[in-house]
Amino acid sequence: MPLHIIVGAQWGDEGKGRITDLLAAEAAVVARYSGGDNAGHTVTVDGPDGPQIFKLHLLPSGLINPHVVGVLGHGMVINPHSLLAEMDRLGALGIVVSPERVKISAAAHLITPGHMALDRADEAARAAANLEGKIGTTGRGIGPAYTDKTARRGLRAELLLDPERLGDRVAEHIRLVNQTLDRIYGLPGLDPVTIAADYTQYARRLAPYITETSLYLYRRLQANAAVLAEGAQGTLLDLDLGTYPFVTSSSPTSAGAFVGLGVGPQFAGRIIGVTKVFQTRVGEGPFPTEVFGPEADRLRGTGSNPWDEFGTTTGRPRRCGWLDLVLLRYAVRVNGLTELVLTKMDVLSGLDQVRLCAAYEAGGTRHDELPLGPTDLAPFRPVYETMPGWAEDVSAARSLADLPAAARHYVQRIEELTGVPVSLISVGPERKQIVRAE
Ligand code: GDP
Ligand code: IMO
Ligand code: MG
Repeated sequence: MPLHIIVGAQWGDEGKGRITDLLAAEAAVVARYSGGDNAGHTVTVDGPDGPQIFKLHLLPSGLINPHVVGVLGHGMVINPHSLLAEMDRLGALGIVVSPERVKISAAAHLITPGHMALDRADEAARAAANLEGKIGTTGRGIGPAYTDKTARRGLRAELLLDPERLGDRVAEHIRLVNQTLDRIYGLPGLDPVTIAADYTQYARRLAPYITETSLYLYRRLQANAAVLAEGAQGTLLDLDLGTYPFVTSSSPTSAGAFVGLGVGPQFAGRIIGVTKVFQTRVGEGPFPTEVFGPEADRLRGTGSNPWDEFGTTTGRPRRCGWLDLVLLRYAVRVNGLTELVLTKMDVLSGLDQVRLCAAYEAGGTRHDELPLGPTDLAPFRPVYETMPGWAEDVSAARSLADLPAAARHYVQRIEELTGVPVSLISVGPERKQIVRAE
């Protein structure tokens, strides 16, 4: 069986966790390949007492399915304190998180409180410098941890197998961080001894989970097991391919799955891009189709529904706008998407009109593609196609025929403007709330 890859086609929070959980029903292994606990993936499962909501940050969303083995690939940066807390939370909800079910790559990198302090210090300095301003990071230490990785002084998960050595390496790392905090930012340092002792404790609990995950995945794929790669973040947050510098520090795009899992591209199967039927972004950076005021409030929701547009990880209100097909076409191209999965179709019900940004306009010229890629998007104005909305609640729809004609037309225009088929349309957060479009 091939490796199917799920990627976010926008700026994250497209509903990747919900779709991973759905497709994991048919998978043996679900593997995260990039990012860390900057991700927030929500999975809703019907239970005897109503829907049960799981929030995952580091563990693959597929683990909610009892038959699935979860892998944390070496493209990830892992905060062991967050991981243990998440394991405890999920364990209390009845999810088994044993070493038989959860495998952590020995080559993944570890995040420390030092990385988190540097993340916050750098954001404050960028905000004060007033050039491009702050990035609006999640404050989880992601950028500094990947910086240490590329500077070849990072702390790898293999150190968890030798708690004393890990303690020494962490203390040395914190002393180095303290020099930067003091000399560059004028901030007080952290206590290397306490933090080293904490990491020694984490190692004792996490050591049994450390595996050569690339070899494990290779053997499973050779044995015909279905493996699902679960993307975090989204295409436009990719370090190379996103709206730089307002990006994360990893490779959330499909190619990142091969690097971040150590699996060869010969195994590639479906490459599934998940996109909302509108656009959101949390954090700073360009957003050509962003709307404000009551229009934005309508798309965002008030926060009364669990799916309203407030960040899973930081609780920040997400910026909202209309679906941007210029950026979606770009995501189709750079990921090699074989299909699109649309989410949150139900949220558009009740709008008089819906809009799609088919192209951009700048200085009297129409642009169907981005001339320089997604860098400076400020000069571009959206060229909208406006079409009638639909009043009907679509959350009970299960086939295309159940959708109102206007909603079907909206989906068809997305297919026409991207050149990629839509395979699934999500009409609510629960497993059953899905329209199979094929
Ligand atoms: P991810 O980071 O891509 O996994 O997405 P998040 O979990 O951060 O955000 C998606 C939110 O939308 C979650 O609260 C999901 O439960 C919810 N969701 C996913 N699909 C749908 C849908 O089709 N309709 C509605 N109403 N909510 C959805
Ligand atoms: P999921 O997996 C949405 C954004 C942050 C910020 C930028 C850099 O839930 O889709 P970082 O902390 O990574 O250095 O922040 O990236 N960001 C996300 N936005 N969803 C995410 O993950 C995100 N992970 C990072 O808001 O703009
Ligand atoms: Mg999210």
